[in-house]
Amino acid sequence: MKKDVRSVISILDLTREEIESLMDTADEIERDPEAFSEVCRHKQLATLFFEPSTRTRLSFESAMLSLGGSVLGFSSANSSSASKGESVADTFEVVSNYADIIATRHPKEGAAYVGALHSSVPVVNAGDGGHFHPTQTLADLLTIRRKKGRLNDLCIGICGDLKYGRTVHSLIEAMQRYSGISYVLISPEELRLPGYMTDKLKAEGAEYVETADLEASMPKLDVLYMTRIQKERFTDEAEYQRLKDSYILTPDKLSSAKKDLCIMHPLPRVNEISVKVDEDERACYFYETYCGKQMRMALIMFLLGLTKDGAREVPKAPAKMEPKKVLRDVISCKNPACISSTEQELPQVFELADEEKHEYRCIYCDSLVRYQ
Ligand code: CP
Repeated sequence: MKKDVRSVISILDLTREEIESLMDTADEIERDPEAFSEVCRHKQLATLFFEPSTRTRLSFESAMLSLGGSVLGFSSANSSSASKGESVADTFEVVSNYADIIATRHPKEGAAYVGALHSSVPVVNAGDGGHFHPTQTLADLLTIRRKKGRLNDLCIGICGDLKYGRTVHSLIEAMQRYSGISYVLISPEELRLPGYMTDKLKAEGAEYVETADLEASMPKLDVLYMTRIQKERFTDEAEYQRLKDSYILTPDKLSSAKKDLCIMHPLPRVNEISVKVDEDERACYFYETYCGKQMRMALIMFLLGLTKDGAREVPKAPAKMEPKKVLRDVISCKNPACISSTEQELPQVFELADEEKHEYRCIYCDSLVRYQ
């Protein structure tokens, strides 16, 4: 990151206290939106979306407009100079001259991180491939807090595509900061959580089970987080066709569920939740989109150092542990979805992840590579 610029690439770029303060601000915005309507006057948000979006891009734009700011940007790689071969690094160098803050989505994992390295203004990761989607998590956390009244002591079922579902990875990273959380990870064998995520859960002593059985898991869940099978991340169409209908939530499957279950989905849905479930008062997925705008308003204000009462200093980013060892251009990332596979002259940088297993973590996409 450029010196003294605060970006949000992973949900861990915000402390738990900061996230709770953002949720408090979102509650204030809900109570009195007018009080925030001029906070970002003369500020500009750039939305650089190299991949399709409805909710994230439009809620970011709506958030900035509701704060009295303005927006610019593009909604597909084809309408930007990326289609002529411009790198992510150059794009961010340029656009950070035009805007005060950037929200970006890109199909490559680690693209937002590379963007932030080259931006002189804050960058928010609005989804990088199958990796992370921290602002969806902010919407999810606010939904859970408002609907359940707490973020501790919850059994969370996460169902569907846990391999490529970036919202899943960010949600788990966020929930790990709370106590009394257990996970039921429901997916076909092929779409289980990536190794770098299960390794973290194990290292942190998290309580989790992996299963393929949604109905057997239902009675114990406080939250059920359904996800779409991420067609766009599959390299094998036949495999997608085989797995695409793995889970379809219908009213009868909810018969054994708790009366106060919170049914979530980051959306878009294809057919993972029958529209009949929409009538169930436990369905919270459209409410998530409502929360998303308020959380994005709170985040924009936070990163720009603005409050409804005036400017304030943006706090320094949470300190990260220094890696024990860094390898630079010694090994290369094997993940074809990593930004390092396409970005011009990007150094291959790895940090030691597990000394005993001789595993190194790619700093862009978190993939693990063995090297000794
Ligand atoms: N949840 C989400 O990211 O939706 P979009 O792809 O429509 O932005």
